[in-house]
Order: sequence, then C-alpha cells, then structure tokens
Amino acid sequence: MTQDNTDQVNYWNDRAGSTWAELQDRLDTLLKPLSDAGLDAANLENGERVLDVGCGCGDTSIALNVKGGSVQGIDISGPMLERARARSSQVEFILADAANFAPEQPYDLIFSRFGVMFFNDPTDAFSNLHSMLNIDGRLVFVCWQPPTENPWMSVTGRAVAPFLPVIEPAPDPRDPGPFAFADTNYVQTILSDSGFKNIQFESFTAALRVGSNAEDALKLQTRVGPAARVMAELKDDQRRQALDAARNALAPYQSDNGVQLDAAVWVVSATAS
Ligand SMILES: C[S@@+](CC[C@H](N)C(=O)[O-])C[C@H]1O[C@@H](n2cnc3c(N)ncnc32)[C@H](O)[C@@H]1O
Repeated sequence: MTQDNTDQVNYWNDRAGSTWAELQDRLDTLLKPLSDAGLDAANLENGERVLDVGCGCGDTSIALNVKGGSVQGIDISGPMLERARARSSQVEFILADAANFAPEQPYDLIFSRFGVMFFNDPTDAFSNLHSMLNIDGRLVFVCWQPPTENPWMSVTGRAVAPFLPVIEPAPDPRDPGPFAFADTNYVQTILSDSGFKNIQFESFTAALRVGSNAEDALKLQTRVGPAARVMAELKDDQRRQALDAARNALAPYQSDNGVQLDAAVWVVSATAS
C-alpha cells in the first residue's frame, strides 16, 4: 500500500524548503562535523550504487559522489532539489517519496543525513528501503539525539518557550520531526521489524559554530530553528522580549571562534542480511 506523507510534502515544499535552499551554504557548513561522522561510517567503496534519502540540497549526495559513488538523491522537496541540481550534474536527484519509491536497480548503500525521521509509518518506509538494497547492502544514517543532548537547539528553545502559546495536547516525541529517532530502542525495533540486521548505534558529539556572535546565531535560529515560531506567532513587544531572552541565553557561549554549542547525533548502521 502507498504511504501517505502529504503533510510532510506540503511542509517541505512551502517555506521550510525554500528557507533550507536559501540557507544551504550556511547549514552545510554548520552541519559538516556531523556529516563527516556519517560519511566516515558509510565507508564507501569506489563504484558502489548509493541512494541518499531526504537528500535535500544535495550536500551528502555530492560528497558520496566525490568519494566514488554512483549516487541518486531522493527528496520530496521541489525547492531543495532545485538547489541540489544546480550544484551537481553528476548526481541524479529524484523528486519522490522514499517510502514508496521503487528503483530500477538495487543499491549497495542507503545513506541519510537527517532525512529519515519524517515518515508517518517508519516501519513501512524502512521495509521499502530494505527492499531496495542488495543482499549484502547496508544502511547508514545520522539522526539527532534528544533535545537535552543538543544545547545548540535547546538553549534557544528553552529561552523562548515562556513567550509562546503551549501546544495542546503535547506532541508525541515520536511524531515525524527532527527528534523522532532520539530513542535508540524505538529505532532498533523499527529497523529489525523492517528486516535489517547487525543494527548499531554510535554516539557522536561535536561543538557546532552556530554563529559569529549571539545576534548572528539568532538570525539563523529564527529561520530554521527553535525561534522560528517566535517570528511566525509573536508580534511587537512579545516578539522583542522573546528575542532578547534568546540573545541573552546564547551570549555565554561566545568564544574566540564564535558562538559554540554542543550537538549530539546517533550514527546508525545496519546490514540488509
Ligand atoms: C532536515 S532535512 C535534511 C536535508 C538534507 N539531508 C541535509 O542534511 O541537509 C529533511 C529532508 O528530508 C526530506 N524528506 C522528508 N520526508 C521525506 C520522504 N518521505 N521521502 C523523501 N524525502 C523526505 C525533506 O524534504 C528534507 O529535505
């Protein structure tokens, strides 16, 4: 049966997609240490066939191609794929839902940087990914650990929370979204129910340079981060107060090399058989 991810298709083709495309260079620089951890774990061999799931603006697809992979990137976001296609003609970028995609040939590696936490039915989607792999193929992806382990997002999030309306009922932390795969037991169950073997979780942490100073860090976080709701939902004094609180919360993290805050991801790997 075809999986319906229409809500995510709408989300990533609206403001989120065009914002990510506009900020591509800055986001890729920010995320580079985390990307590198995933790419190292992928241990690509020359000529391997690769699918990059939720490839967005194509940074990891291009990196895998440069390392010798024959790469296809798949994503549901038109604006992000437009940016990806402008960056490389060596990678084939496919506009499709990875949960329902059927490739012409199987892959040796399915890779993702933060692109697999948005499926409405993760077990169904990962079963489909499993079916796309060669018998000795493998899966490697990078996903976020919980917000508590990611002060680069949670410091600002906590600072602005008192100014924002409370969302009721509270969302399920496993709902599609950046932190949906924070719990390794949950991900282990999804992957084993989808047919994957030798499932491993490696914790990787790094300090991210979120901006040159608190103002610059905040500029990014009001576009694609925890303070984006402030811009969308608050006005005038309320907005000013929330932004001041966020700026004050970021200021102590200023170092000689800009505002540095810790991030933590899981590098997840598994084999098809
Ligand atoms: C957080 S972004 C990460 C993008 C890119 N991998 C990166 O690290 O810059 C998540 C991406 O997953 C894509 N995505 C979400 N659901 C998807 C699905 N069902 N099939 C393919 N792509 C999907 C979104 O369009 C978006 O580009």
